[in-house]
Amino acid sequence: MLSPTIIRVYAVQASNRPGKSNVNRKYDGKSAVRVLGIETSCDETGVALYDTGQGLLAHMLHSQVKIHESYGGVVPEIASRDHIRRWVALTRECVAQANTGIDQIDAVAYTAGPGLAGALFSGAVAGRTLAWALGVSALAVHHMEAHLLAPMLEAGSPDFPFICLLVSGGHTQLVRVDGLGVYHLLGDTLDDAAGEAFDKTAKMLGLGYPGGPKLAKAAEQGNPEKFVFARPMTNRPGLDFSFSGLKTAAITAFTEVNQDPLAVNDIAAGFQASVVDTLCIKCRRALQQEKLHHLVVAGGVASNTRLRSALEKMTSELNGELFCPRLEFCTDNGAMIAFAGAMRLQAGESSATEMVIRPRWPLTDMHPPVKTVESRFN
Ligand code: KG4
Ligand code: ZN
Repeated sequence: MLSPTIIRVYAVQASNRPGKSNVNRKYDGKSAVRVLGIETSCDETGVALYDTGQGLLAHMLHSQVKIHESYGGVVPEIASRDHIRRWVALTRECVAQANTGIDQIDAVAYTAGPGLAGALFSGAVAGRTLAWALGVSALAVHHMEAHLLAPMLEAGSPDFPFICLLVSGGHTQLVRVDGLGVYHLLGDTLDDAAGEAFDKTAKMLGLGYPGGPKLAKAAEQGNPEKFVFARPMTNRPGLDFSFSGLKTAAITAFTEVNQDPLAVNDIAAGFQASVVDTLCIKCRRALQQEKLHHLVVAGGVASNTRLRSALEKMTSELNGELFCPRLEFCTDNGAMIAFAGAMRLQAGESSATEMVIRPRWPLTDMHPPVKTVESRFN
């Protein structure tokens, strides 16, 4: 069965709930907004509180790695059920750690896509139910927009416009970012995403799940010059990527040495060097093509230390600057969802009227928030 791209379930408007006075509070355009973010797109339950006046107040994360480890990858049904089990306790802890009350929030932001359908459902139901109970806005957040904005959680964040390299388990994209919701896709992967290639190669090398960090760790013990792989699609113009052939080349090299365990670290190092070089070459090209100096790197693969240092070196050679989220905000987390929700709420976005989740949701479908009268709390 084809996986659905858009799922609509039912409409719940906070304003339908009787007895709540703050639902239609008018936005004065100046005061700070405080948003609870809930992330459940895959195998991590993240909850965070972000206040546009005070910054990040608290964030909690529960990783499902231990649960999926024995299956060698994420089992979607188990992921969905675990999100349901975790989010209430995480929310309580988050609110307590922030030393505030749950009634002190202006909105609940939840990840509406892209991601695993069941996992997205869990978070959407959780987020909308909580928003309804509190009589506040429920904001549907795009997971990749949240990744892209995550460097702005840090001090000294970049101004628009900038180039963003989005590298996660499902995406490898180069995007020109001109503002909130103003995204121009410059390059995309034609097959596997970089994170996906890390995961699949790690599995074939017997490194297990989660593949990216395990392969990166093995690569640190290896010699990247023993197995030198091509840098895919760098010898032709353009900003698209392809990592499927590289993955096959690494697996073929492993077969040719009769799956010698002693070769694993060297193959991992050769594979990682190829991915890092390829991403760097394309980022340099994108900065030069767009005549921009600021590069943002976000998504799970952005936590790869070799990639971060190579991009740092490349941007400084161009007299530019690299912006990365701290390591824990590269991989999935609630802070980026709370932040993206807060940015959109403050820019005038109103509550999503329907519970819509989009397992496949192109970033280029995003638009800047539309400012409506009384848009803040309805
Ligand atoms: O952003 P993310 O946490 O989830 C998605 O939105 O997909 O990214 C997960 C991806 C996985 O493919 C994982 O293997 C990869 O990021 N990853 C890494 C590293 N840490 C996570 N890849 C390379 N090196 C790492 N250190
Ligand atoms: Zn992600």
